[in-house]
Amino acid sequence: MSSRDTVKQCCARLYESDLARILLGDSFHPGGTKLTERLGALLGLSAQSRVLDIASGTGTSALFLAERFDCEVVGVDYGSHNVEQSNAAATARGLNKRVSFRIGDAERLPFPDASFDAVICECAFCTFPDKPAAAGEFARVLRSGGAIGLSDLTRGSALPEELSGLLAWVACIADAQPVDTYVRYFCNATLRVERVERHDEALLEMVNQVRTKLLGAEIMVGLKKLELPGVDFTAAKEMARLALAAVQKGSLGYAIIHAAKP
Ligand SMILES: C[S@@+](CC[C@H](N)C(=O)[O-])C[C@H]1O[C@@H](n2cnc3c(N)ncnc32)[C@H](O)[C@@H]1O
Repeated sequence: MSSRDTVKQCCARLYESDLARILLGDSFHPGGTKLTERLGALLGLSAQSRVLDIASGTGTSALFLAERFDCEVVGVDYGSHNVEQSNAAATARGLNKRVSFRIGDAERLPFPDASFDAVICECAFCTFPDKPAAAGEFARVLRSGGAIGLSDLTRGSALPEELSGLLAWVACIADAQPVDTYVRYFCNATLRVERVERHDEALLEMVNQVRTKLLGAEIMVGLKKLELPGVDFTAAKEMARLALAAVQKGSLGYAIIHAAKP
């Protein structure tokens, strides 16, 4: 297996773990469904839209968009367990005629050219090892005149060495890029960037919430009221501490980028 596949598998496994659900809830990005709603509004989603949610995680955003904007949504994710659970959630909510999920790789999307009116990707592009390939795929599956909404971690100044390993990569930190770099990936994929919005406060809130929940989980594990085998709380707390310092310093932030396919 190539090191790129290892990164993708490690990322999928992390976001299918009990720890991710405990620390992050159902929505694995800063701002939760409030920022997803903002993305949907920026893209002008409606009952006529067919939307692709790339790296759909638990399916929370796809199901939310279908309910909020009446659109059809297809989710794609590398993790088979999350895809299975997302399809079950769509059925349980009576949305399975308009929302479905399948396994796939953002760098090689299993869809024909121009098959979607809109594409969203929340808090995942930063983890893709081949970002130009992913941006090219986003543009390929989008119809002409369609819109893309990316929300992702952004990097300001350099990050400490401790935030450069595999865990920091799949935690959306190590390979976060400056906003201008994301913009360049999109422009190189012949997309036109319409708007950039900063939402750094949403990241600050999420990191603070993760730190609190980590402490709670550690206590529960110590009291044997929760089982989280293999979780290194010391390393996790240190990473969360460094991440908070980076957000406070402005070295890490969060942004939405809205682009269009001419
Ligand atoms: C931080 S979670 C975000 C999930 C979801 N977008 C959300 O905001 O709740 C990152 C997701 O990216 C997925 N992922 C990572 N690499 C991928 C790839 N190459 N193709 C598709 N999905 C991928 C992971 O499986 C995980 O579900």
